[in-house]
Amino acid sequence: MVVLLDVFPRSWVLMTCVLCWCVITEANDHCSRPLSRIVRNQLTEHFYSVFESKSEEPHRKCPLHLDRDLYRFQEGNKTQDYPSRWVCNFCGKAFLSEHYLDMHFDNRHSDELVKGTTVCLADFCDIFRCEVFENPRKDFFWEKKLCKEDRLTARRRRCEALMRSCLPQGNLSLDKELEIYEAIGANTCALLNCKNYWKPPHQEIAAWKIILYAVITPFFVMGLIVYYYAIFDHYFGDYPTDISWSREEEEESISLSRRSRRSPDLRKRYGGRPLMY
Ligand SMILES: *[C@@H]1O[C@H](CO)[C@@H](O)[C@H](O)[C@H]1NC(C)=O
Ligand SMILES: *[C@@H]1O[C@H](CO)[C@@H](O)[C@H](O)[C@H]1NC(C)=O
Ligand SMILES: [Zn+2]
Repeated sequence: MVVLLDVFPRSWVLMTCVLCWCVITEANDHCSRPLSRIVRNQLTEHFYSVFESKSEEPHRKCPLHLDRDLYRFQEGNKTQDYPSRWVCNFCGKAFLSEHYLDMHFDNRHSDELVKGTTVCLADFCDIFRCEVFENPRKDFFWEKKLCKEDRLTARRRRCEALMRSCLPQGNLSLDKELEIYEAIGANTCALLNCKNYWKPPHQEIAAWKIILYAVITPFFVMGLIVYYYAIFDHYFGDYPTDISWSREEEEESISLSRRSRRSPDLRKRYGGRPLMY
């Protein structure tokens, strides 16, 4: 035992433990929540909505089926009260950002993951252009320049196969099947070419921001008017009285200035302080 400890010093044992722990947490947390969210948002907008509008359901074996989303329960039990208040509906705790709520789910509610044959939506990031959605303002200049059409064509093929596997089961008419296929592919597979891949996602301005601007703008304009009025008043408002006063006293001041070199109107203007010449 002593020999063993000599061969493997304590620091080594500690390092191995840390390494094991890292591997375990890595394995638990391999499915990125933010990336899954990017894919999920696109599915909600362009995929589930299509099936809903046709009152159909994706094939049970479709990897993008709602029931197979690993984080479905946890995401469904999130509430955002304000921009900086995220509430966990399992226990009622509130957090300042979605990131901390995600960490809370990992630490406290890891049993609320969907069970069975689940899918990590982040695994479909190459098809759903997560990199573009992650940096919506980025220009992607070099990526556009170095874009390889055949690589994206391969992705498009995979995307089309994926979408075909999601068409509803049962005997649908060919027309209806094609209609659904075109609709769900329009915002995914159809964008997988060098021309469209780097297109930024359209950005919606949140409603609360519009309200904020609508409230602040009138105050801002009012403030500007008051400000300019004050400046105008300061520079031009006093002149008429000033001129009339100086004219009245002009002759007197001239006669006075012969006796003392300090002109009275200056003395008056500067509050009687002795002037330095
Ligand atoms: C919230 O979690 C419960 C329990 O896991 C689940 O049954 C329910 O569907 C979730 N709510 C939503 C809206 O997903
Ligand atoms: C397929 O179509 C036939 C007749 O057109 C119908 O009787 C049958 O129920 C349909 N099957 C499914 C799974 O919808
Ligand atoms: Zn909780």
